[in-house]
Amino acid sequence: MVKNFYITTPIYYPSAKPHMGHAYSSIIADFFARFKRMDGFDVSFLTGTDEHGLKIQRAAKKKGIDTLQFCDEISQTFKDLSKILNLTNTDFIRTTEDRHKLSVQNLWKELEKNEDIYLSKYSGWYSVSDEAFYTEDEIEEVDGKKQAVSSKSPVEWMDEESYFFKLSKWEKPLLEYYEKNPNFISPISRKNEVISFVKSGLKDLSVSRKSLSWGIQVPNNKNHIIYVWLDALTNYISALNYPNTNNSLYKKFWPASIHLIGKDILRFHAVYWPAFLLAANIPLPKKIYGHGWILSGEEKMSKSKGNILDPIEIIEKYGLDPLRYYLIKEVSFGNDGNISQERLEDCINSDLANNYGNLCQRVIAFGIKNCEGKIPNNIEFQKDDLKILDKFKSNLELIRKKIDNQDINFYIDFIVNSLFEANKYFNDQEPWKKKGDIKRLNTIVYTTLEIVRKISFMLYPIIPQSALNALKIFDIKEDDIKFSTLDNHNYLKFNSDINKINILFKKIEKEND
Ligand code: MSP
Repeated sequence: MVKNFYITTPIYYPSAKPHMGHAYSSIIADFFARFKRMDGFDVSFLTGTDEHGLKIQRAAKKKGIDTLQFCDEISQTFKDLSKILNLTNTDFIRTTEDRHKLSVQNLWKELEKNEDIYLSKYSGWYSVSDEAFYTEDEIEEVDGKKQAVSSKSPVEWMDEESYFFKLSKWEKPLLEYYEKNPNFISPISRKNEVISFVKSGLKDLSVSRKSLSWGIQVPNNKNHIIYVWLDALTNYISALNYPNTNNSLYKKFWPASIHLIGKDILRFHAVYWPAFLLAANIPLPKKIYGHGWILSGEEKMSKSKGNILDPIEIIEKYGLDPLRYYLIKEVSFGNDGNISQERLEDCINSDLANNYGNLCQRVIAFGIKNCEGKIPNNIEFQKDDLKILDKFKSNLELIRKKIDNQDINFYIDFIVNSLFEANKYFNDQEPWKKKGDIKRLNTIVYTTLEIVRKISFMLYPIIPQSALNALKIFDIKEDDIKFSTLDNHNYLKFNSDINKINILFKKIEKEND
């Protein structure tokens, strides 16, 4: 039976061009999508842009262009970024699309039908930059200006007629749901934060604005625009053709396996979204994972300090895969992480160029010279060979489990250790001294090539293009990459060619070297 997996990124505000934080969410989602695909799952991977609300309306006005035209332009830069990042998203949703509007208005009608929406008046603080409401104790005053304590964004007073969603009604059911589904909010530290927020008491949520034109209208009341978060969150089901719950996409992929988000938008995903879904009798996603932030130290980004965070600039300078590798390895997943160009260069030089690239080149050169350029037959594994090969086989289930717990740190450590051990194995076995024992020499070359194959499979979700380049040694194509084959020690075909490949990663000359 085919297993299904549905992963989403947050949909990005096209208020400015994409930055490293956006790239990070997307690359991590792509990592999981690729892993699951190579593990035999049918994967749906959604990303897109969140285009309504005051934030966007004001950004367009500032530029003096039509709001939709503004969105078209910046949404396109996000679409382009998906290509540049080599994402394997299966859909890209824009909240200005008709399919989405239809879906949001339907969800609204469901909420209304179930008496979860009523008309009243909102008086309180609102941050346009966060598109969020704040209570008095979530506000502080700095230099005479009011701002949100959590995000430091400016807030403005709002006083207008508004529809409300009966969030308070869902306080208990939400707490019960968290209790029954302990992995719903991950990682654990974030879960506690959400639970204490809900326990502190949920107030009904303002879900429409009158003083705004850029958005989706409330059905049956043209004067109101649906709150941008109720609009945006619905993207996860509108992409599956909700309200048509009988179509194959929805049936296959809802509930989502995981909504991957940044920790700043946890409340919307772990409180509001599940409450809307409960109220509309729609099953809840299986998991909300709130990752940490990418920081560039205490320092503001600047070229001279070498800590720029523009993904496009970094990719132009170093290439995509080094950036993907670096973000996945160096930012301990779930926590905030500082990134710097210096550490990125270290990663390229030590892990990618030395440990991975060199290993490939060494074994190719040795095999071409000593095994007639063919995958050697006439082999007999000994204890040392089996020890290194078995490591993959005996850890397959554990790796799957770790991935299901989003333990990317375990995954990458496994690869880094395997690379280290593979290099050590090749050095210690000294195949160049085995020319009098051809069977032993062949076995060492076969084993090392088999390890290169296994490590390249595991690297594929992280550095897809480079892993594919390495797999050209064996003429292995993308569709052949199957995680389950990592338990096979005899995957490589005897007597097939060992192909030469280009250098995988160029070492960076460091100024102080
Ligand atoms: N439009 C909303 C999301 C709606 S989802 C239904 C939004 N957009 S955003 O463009 O502001 O942010 C999108 C994502 O990028 C968020 O998950 C946010 O956490 C992430 N990042 C923004 N800056 C970041 C860093 N510096 N580091 C890591 N991720 C951060 O919120």
